[in-house]
Amino acid sequence: TDYDLIIRNGIVVTDTEVGEYDIAVKDEKIAKVVARGGLKDNKAARVIDAQDGYVMPGGVDAHVHLQEPPLFGKGSTADNYESGSRSAICGGTTTMVTFAPQKKTEDTLLDTLRDTHAKAKDNCYTDYSFHLIVGNPSTTALSEFATLRSEGISSLKIYMTYEALQLHDGQILDVLLEARAQSITTMIHAENGQVIDWMTTQLEKRKLFAPKYHGPSHPPMAEVEATYRAISLSEFMDTPILIVHVSTPAAAAHIKAAQDRGLPIYAETCPQYLFLTKADLDPPGGGFEGAKCVCAPPPRESEADCDVIWDGLANGTFTILSSDHCPFRYNDNVHGKQTPINEEYPLGHFRYIPNGLPGIETRLPLTLSAGRLDLKKFVEVTSANPAKLYGLWPRKGGLVEGESDADINIWYPEGKMKEFALKNEMLHHDVDYTPFEGRKVRQWPRYTILRGKVVWDKEGEGLVGGKGYGQFVRRGVSSLKGPRNPGEWEIPL
Ligand code: URP
Ligand code: ZN
Ligand code: ZN
Repeated sequence: TDYDLIIRNGIVVTDTEVGEYDIAVKDEKIAKVVARGGLKDNKAARVIDAQDGYVMPGGVDAHVHLQEPPLFGKGSTADNYESGSRSAICGGTTTMVTFAPQKKTEDTLLDTLRDTHAKAKDNCYTDYSFHLIVGNPSTTALSEFATLRSEGISSLKIYMTYEALQLHDGQILDVLLEARAQSITTMIHAENGQVIDWMTTQLEKRKLFAPKYHGPSHPPMAEVEATYRAISLSEFMDTPILIVHVSTPAAAAHIKAAQDRGLPIYAETCPQYLFLTKADLDPPGGGFEGAKCVCAPPPRESEADCDVIWDGLANGTFTILSSDHCPFRYNDNVHGKQTPINEEYPLGHFRYIPNGLPGIETRLPLTLSAGRLDLKKFVEVTSANPAKLYGLWPRKGGLVEGESDADINIWYPEGKMKEFALKNEMLHHDVDYTPFEGRKVRQWPRYTILRGKVVWDKEGEGLVGGKGYGQFVRRGVSSLKGPRNPGEWEIPL
């Protein structure tokens, strides 16, 4: 045989092109992408007829929390590397970048990196890499950025909120300075932690404890102020940042203005800010159900806000669309969303509801099904751009002959899949709910292929990939625009 796999009759979509091409795969790589019919004389161990379905690069989800200790409220994240990557692959995500969180009490980053490798190794259905979360930018930790680079890690996340992780502005500058020196991209969670704490106290003074008050405890102003501060710190240090999980139109406007001035400011949004609103924190029937949609930033005011976030994807304000998969079980008052019940408030307090939602499996199907993004833009924000920003391109996120891994989604032909309502029982995570229950979906990957191997076959046995087939991927530097003045940072005098 000439090839390991041939995919015929697809409508191939990349971030730059849509066309009728056939694809040949050999030794885990994209070997050929040729006009339809161009491989008719070739033989392959397996041939898949895409029947005019879209053929796209596998999804790259660059914001995933797995097997993390309590950092965002009470409780450890529900999914481990096995269940999280299983859920990813069943929704068409072939590469995930998860977090390796350094605690405030730790001096070094390298123990965290080693421990996270141990959690992931031999347990993943997807390929994977890590972003280090810097909880303590100690002299030791800052001096280790060069080692991170040599270990194939080229990004960090820092927080402007959460007691367990919050850095003050001087510490943020310390991180940005060293990140700049090592060509590392810094992700920033931009919410003003002190405003959130103050608002939480104000709400509790008024005995407002229900899950829905998580919304007002995280006002848009806290995100907008921190976003502008993060942009200012990045501009001062002339170094690229990515602002994670942006939810607020006014924050998006600051980002767009900075980008229009030529600054290397990148931004991420997530399906929860496209599909959920404040009403989801206060569902009919009241009670505690709203806890299922507690995340930070919270779902915002109205569908008009969601529309602005969709527009930001279309106009390039948002570089990437990630899941921020950070799941906690609902029916679990030790590790989950339920909080201690007391006489004063028998349903528990929003303050203790851990922040985060599951969504690694639904990110691609929900977004594609909505039909609101141009197809190339969909591939750009869910696959190509995360690969470019985080140093995985062109190995991941594309279908480049001889360069890209054969990570491929073959979707259903348009109109072939009957619209259905999403149900948690269809999903493969280790979580007892999805915040997207009942949402209408009309697309799902028919096949998902990781390095040339079919790992998801929806019409067949479903999950056919193996735990441990997923490999750690060493990353290089971002291929998106970096500092405006490369070279050593100079103190402005
Ligand atoms: O609510 C969220 N986003 N939880 C995950 C933690 C984080 O800040 O990314
Ligand atoms: Zn965050
Ligand atoms: Zn997150």
